[in-house]
Amino acid sequence: MDIGPNGRVALITGGNRGIGLEIARQLGLRGYHTVLAARSEAKGERSARDLRKLGHSSSAVALDVADHASIERAVSDTVGAFGRVDVLINNAGIALDGGDHRPSDPDFDRILTTLNTNLLGAWACARSVLPHMRAAKYGRIVNVSSNMASLALTSDAESPAYRISKAALNMLTVVLAAEVREEGILVNAASPGYTRTDMSPKATRPVEAGADTPTWLATLPPDGPTGGFFYERSPLPW
Ligand SMILES: NC(=O)c1ccc[n+]([C@@H]2O[C@H](COP(=O)([O-])OP(=O)(O)OC[C@H]3O[C@@H](n4cnc5c(N)ncnc54)[C@H](OP(=O)(O)O)[C@@H]3O)[C@@H](O)[C@H]2O)c1
Repeated sequence: MDIGPNGRVALITGGNRGIGLEIARQLGLRGYHTVLAARSEAKGERSARDLRKLGHSSSAVALDVADHASIERAVSDTVGAFGRVDVLINNAGIALDGGDHRPSDPDFDRILTTLNTNLLGAWACARSVLPHMRAAKYGRIVNVSSNMASLALTSDAESPAYRISKAALNMLTVVLAAEVREEGILVNAASPGYTRTDMSPKATRPVEAGADTPTWLATLPPDGPTGGFFYERSPLPW
């Protein structure tokens, strides 16, 4: 398969629906080949077909962020097919708790499942793509975080597992960015904002707006920021 007109390849976890699929659409408009990494390859392929109908270059690969062997396979298949992986969007995420889950009464099963997906899944994906980015001296890693990760903006007790997983993802962003900053690899965290998807059906913010900041961070020039946390293309307090 030909890769997109700008020759760059973006791997998007949870790319089959929601914000991930919209990031893929926005990157496709900019000429990227998008690889929709999805737990169900059939669902990923269905969404990739929809993007191809728009004239974009897109394909799908099976990837479950909770299964590290599947991450290794997906990255290896992507590099095997396209010779490169320039962008990683760590978008796959779950929100298993809300007002029902009190920090004083932790449900460790929910907490571990959430950390496994939202933190360790993103970390394992970064580990798999980094050797290829290092060899190319080019990479953009975008961790899809949340306003709910912000220590400065948090004043209520709701969703402790989700908040803590995304706050930890923010710290991963900072330490990883520090390690690779001299290697042409920029690592940033983005909050999409409270965006209408299956995860947040009551939200009114359209998915186009939610995907804008992650897409911007995926396409940064070499002198762009790294190790930052952004909402609406502006820094968000940690
Ligand atoms: N929507 C919001 O208001 C909002 C606000 C702040 C941050 N976010 C963040 O934005 C990201 C995207 O959320 P969304 O609103 O688009 O949610 P969504 O509509 O629920 O989509 C979540 C995506 O993640 C995938 N996923 C979940 N667990 C996975 C796993 N183990 N392996 C691979 N993929 C997995 C899902 O795949 P399946 O289709 O297989 O389930 C789906 O593609 C998440 O990280 C979320 O925390 C969302």
